[in-house]
Amino acid sequence: MTTTHDGPRRTRNKALLDWVDSMARLCKPDRIYWCDGSQEEYNRLCDQMVQNGTFVRLDPQKRPNSFLARSHPSDVARVEDRTFICAERQEDAGPTNNWMAPARMRERLNQLFDGCMRGRTLYVIPFSMGPLGSHIAHIGVEITDSPYVVVNQRIMTRMGQPVLEVLGEHGSFVPCMHSVGAPLSPGENDVPWPCAPNVEDKYISHFPETREIWSYGSGYGGNALLGKKCFALRIASVMARDEGWLAEHMLILGVQSPAGKKHYVAAAFPSACGKTNFAMLIPPKGFDGWKITTVGDDIAWVKPNAKDGKFYAINPEYGFFGVAPGTNAWSNPNALASMQENTIFTNTALTDDGDVWWEGLTEEPPAHLIDWQGQDWTPGCGRPAAHPNARFTAPANQCPSIDPEWENPDGVPISAFLFGGRVSKHFPLVFQSYNWEHGVYMAATMGSEATAAAIGQASVRRDPMAMLPFCGYNMADYWRHWLRIGRKHVATPPRIFRVNWFRKDAHGRFIWPGFGENMRVLKWVIDRCEGRASAIEGPLGLLPGWADLSWEGLAFQPDDFFAIMNIDQEVARQETVDQEELFTRFGDHLPREMELERELQLARLYHSPPVWDLSRALAD
Ligand code: OXD
Ligand code: MN
Repeated sequence: MTTTHDGPRRTRNKALLDWVDSMARLCKPDRIYWCDGSQEEYNRLCDQMVQNGTFVRLDPQKRPNSFLARSHPSDVARVEDRTFICAERQEDAGPTNNWMAPARMRERLNQLFDGCMRGRTLYVIPFSMGPLGSHIAHIGVEITDSPYVVVNQRIMTRMGQPVLEVLGEHGSFVPCMHSVGAPLSPGENDVPWPCAPNVEDKYISHFPETREIWSYGSGYGGNALLGKKCFALRIASVMARDEGWLAEHMLILGVQSPAGKKHYVAAAFPSACGKTNFAMLIPPKGFDGWKITTVGDDIAWVKPNAKDGKFYAINPEYGFFGVAPGTNAWSNPNALASMQENTIFTNTALTDDGDVWWEGLTEEPPAHLIDWQGQDWTPGCGRPAAHPNARFTAPANQCPSIDPEWENPDGVPISAFLFGGRVSKHFPLVFQSYNWEHGVYMAATMGSEATAAAIGQASVRRDPMAMLPFCGYNMADYWRHWLRIGRKHVATPPRIFRVNWFRKDAHGRFIWPGFGENMRVLKWVIDRCEGRASAIEGPLGLLPGWADLSWEGLAFQPDDFFAIMNIDQEVARQETVDQEELFTRFGDHLPREMELERELQLARLYHSPPVWDLSRALAD
């Protein structure tokens, strides 16, 4: 069967036309369709997916223009063990990435993609990561056989004809090749899932030298919406290294004081540490007149600005791909409002009146639901109704807290970088680095608890800069890039802070209330950036005293504060000793500053009392 073109080719960019032709020759689709990005096209594809069972249309009154998709149970999350960085030399991928030689991976991919789109349409999706035409933005083109990917990409990126106009005849783009995978047997093309049930053969491959992405066998967000983790982090981190900027797993928020003064903060947290909630925070009692605005909830592209010597950041995305479970009117009303309409839900439960539900949405679950696998569900049946990684794809401009500058092509100036993990024991609520190098060390050694080991000690999964699954090259070279860019490319680098919302007391209860109350920490961060608030020198960094935070409206006592700020010398020393294991994995690639900072920290801890306690530090 020969391939036909549905609609015009829409560009004179020869490199793009040639690439699409050669991919079509490889994948042998029945049709090629160039996406224009229009509402009409979106509606048409959604209607088609309702007809073939991929989508359930939600009640138009309750959730206008919104849909539910259920994925195959084997295809519900990113697959880190099937994610590859195919650099020519293994050491350029580094010890924290899966590696395969590019030639071998290409051979495998060529076999898999050969004829994989028979009977299907090949969609061409031109997209811009970042505001169209922004000097911080970059263009990608995704080829996919999944209409689910097309409609999600329309929410998550600026896509379609206007992007081709910006690309022009000679512009360059990152080619992003995607297929849900060949059907295991004929007829499986008709399955209602966004992905063929192709469990074994998933490959999420990146070629950093040629800046290409090839993803096969998964329809799930991070594996299939290739603008997000694959391009905006893994490939972009390589571009950023080569071009002198930063591509980071960071939210961006604005903090506006009652006097109208505004600062922007970018913050990195590992997945599932509440980034979306923090990005959309509502200031608590006692913060009248303060306002938090949202620029982005997941990714920041940060470029130095020669004019004022500062870093400016954009959110390269256009929508939110957020985790639904746990999101509710108390934890994140702004996220709930963002998904009120024009939203695609994946793997949530369906209510009897045609709306969505997930664990944590309401205190009492409905009496009956259809669960994420399409089965009847009643409370107490022993299964979750929504998959724990159920998602909503919602347009960012529907968020009530969206920042007025979020589409500014020049980005927003960044005053501070925050790095946080989930650590129940030894890390204080907040501390500031002594300088840029120390801050990079603090960020490089961050981690989150995976499980509590038998003897009750936390086992920490290191997640440097929250980039462990997303850095497209050797992590130690990435630290070197961070050190260099703060030193050489900006006159006034942002201040760097570590935060930890998750410390627990002896009974295993969270000490810090978190959510909106995190505003109290943000205010100290801003005060530090403005040179207003004081700080106490501690073994890990600079810490606020009780009087440096604003407590109005919160019944939190000085003793509670000391309980989340004190540092157990032995635990902190052991943690600092353990960091050597991380560092030695990188051999010669490790920047000397990292080991020097670690030794300085050990020296500071050597002089510290068994429990370094703020009340004592203040009394001294
Ligand atoms: C995400 C992730 O989906 O970090 O944003 O896993
Ligand atoms: Mn993320």
